[in-house]
Amino acid sequence: MIIANWKMNGSKEEVSSWIKSVTEEVDFDNEKPCVFCPPSCYLDYSCSLIKETSSPIFLGSQNINYKKSSALTGGIDSKMLKEFLTKYVLIGHSEQRETFKETNEILHSKLLAAINEDILPIFCIGEPSEVKQKDNTEYFLGSQLEALYDVDLNGVIIAYEPIWAIGSGLNATKDYIEKIHSFVKEYCRSNLNSDVKISVVYGGSVNLSNCEEIMSSFEVDGLLVGGASLDPDIFSKIYNLS
Ligand code: PGA
Repeated sequence: MIIANWKMNGSKEEVSSWIKSVTEEVDFDNEKPCVFCPPSCYLDYSCSLIKETSSPIFLGSQNINYKKSSALTGGIDSKMLKEFLTKYVLIGHSEQRETFKETNEILHSKLLAAINEDILPIFCIGEPSEVKQKDNTEYFLGSQLEALYDVDLNGVIIAYEPIWAIGSGLNATKDYIEKIHSFVKEYCRSNLNSDVKISVVYGGSVNLSNCEEIMSSFEVDGLLVGGASLDPDIFSKIYNLS
């Protein structure tokens, strides 16, 4: 799967031209979902455009909230996302973890909220550079993966995004990505007792020149593309090459 994460970028006009161009330029493959995650305020509009043009693009939300009552100013719940045919949701992105101090307990509730509404979570994990330098990456990622305890992993996607690679132009090497993805898959098999074949996608400075090499690894099941996804021509090329 190839995912476009627009973060806090774009306008209505850009959403419209992006969906139009990507729908025309991408050679859609059913085995490789093409997922668009615009800012939440554009989900409704994106949903209408996708329906109007019968585009094979799937919608993903950049966020989901969880609270037992509806008293959460600014909150978006899973039922609302479902109204806009949202099929995927990013959970635990490092920017959200840092800004909103998301704990494993909060992330666990968000995972369950999505799954209960049949929205597939794209659960993001990744280490900061200090952790990598101390060679503590696996321990660090293991503690992030604990949020998945007792979660039905059917359909859950894990996105490995080293924090030092996000938006920095410093993508991880293919060998490093392969080692970490294999660790994540093994962790899910052994520690989460999962028989489910879990998909692990890579994100962090993916662009036109590195996408083919990263995707050539048998451990990489897709890409989560931030900055390079904003331009529809570049994103379409990344999809077609991957
Ligand atoms: P980037 O962002 O491709 O701009 O590094 C990826 C992400 O944060 O999902």
